[in-house]
Amino acid sequence: MASDTLLDSPLPIVAAPMAGGPTTIALAAAVASVGGFPFLAGGYKTPDALAAEIGQVRALGVPFGVNLFVPAQDQPDETAFSVYAAELRSEADAYGLQLDAVPVADDDRWAEKVELLIADPVPVVSLTFGLPDPTAIAALRRAGSRVLATVTTPEEAVAARNCGVDGLFVQGPDAGGHSATFAPTRTPEPIKTAELVRRVRAAVDLPVIAAGGVDGPEAVRRLLDADAQAVAVGTLLLRTDEAGTSPTHKAALADPAFGETVITRAFTGRPAHALRNGFIDRHQQAAPVAYPAVHHLTRALRQAAGKAGDADRLHLWAGTGYRNAPTGPAADVIRRLAEEA
Ligand SMILES: Cc1cc2nc3c(=O)[nH]c(=O)nc-3n(C[C@H](O)[C@H](O)[C@H](O)COP(=O)(O)O)c2cc1C
Repeated sequence: MASDTLLDSPLPIVAAPMAGGPTTIALAAAVASVGGFPFLAGGYKTPDALAAEIGQVRALGVPFGVNLFVPAQDQPDETAFSVYAAELRSEADAYGLQLDAVPVADDDRWAEKVELLIADPVPVVSLTFGLPDPTAIAALRRAGSRVLATVTTPEEAVAARNCGVDGLFVQGPDAGGHSATFAPTRTPEPIKTAELVRRVRAAVDLPVIAAGGVDGPEAVRRLLDADAQAVAVGTLLLRTDEAGTSPTHKAALADPAFGETVITRAFTGRPAHALRNGFIDRHQQAAPVAYPAVHHLTRALRQAAGKAGDADRLHLWAGTGYRNAPTGPAADVIRRLAEEA
């Protein structure tokens, strides 16, 4: 086992970062209160909002991490994007919305967020959606943070090691939300997270946090047995009292009408694991590889669907463990997951 300890929490259970609402300060506090390790979700936020959250969690006096989105390198295929925008017009009509058919590029204010974390270092920084210039990783490490890259294959793990990270967040395809894959053209191949962790550990001697498909304490045990140092959960926290998940999303996770999860690019242009709904069925085929352009294209539609309680048009991110996602305090979820740790 790689000897470096990545996280200073009493329990080897991590609240995975969940941007777009679910991760809140209350969730981080609840997780940390019972010895879990919380992540803040830096994605989509302004640098000021992220700085404010860091201040609030730091005031709790607990170890924590911050997750950032690494900007995409590729330009979207404008023709495929325009065809998709035209296809989505009928969905937008349902809310009297006009979707903006010009692809929006943005880098999630990456450089400003890195600057913020260098000026005001946090214990752990995790990166997703690829690898940045290694100088950014070196600068974050010099500032005093442990830097983790999120990887989905042994090849990505090798590339991350070669960029100088301290450890890996290994995300299996059973994970809810966006795949961290470095190649969004690729639909993640089915593999259990424990097997993926074994393959990554065989390829690279870096400490690993395992994520994806955790549905209870036995799954935690399996991942620790596969030589993960800690196990991260997202989906199992989505319905808890402290999570900022939208009420429509929370309800859908418990609704027997949603019988399966699928990996789709339909909502954002990058593969993501979600409850299968009508929007996915209607648009799965045509959705181009174009993140964040498709994320921006569908955003107003998704906001309207959320407000209207229309789960059929909402991105209902979920991992395969969703049927075991409980309501109640997040602290109970963490405590229960640690039972077999
Ligand atoms: C609603 C939601 C939002 C997510 N947002 C992020 C994110 O901002 N950054 C990130 O690295 N991973 C994100 N993920 C993935 C999680 O960090 C984690 O890999 C995943 O939830 C673990 O699998 P599980 O959902 O089966 O527990 C998100 C997952 C969900 C369900």
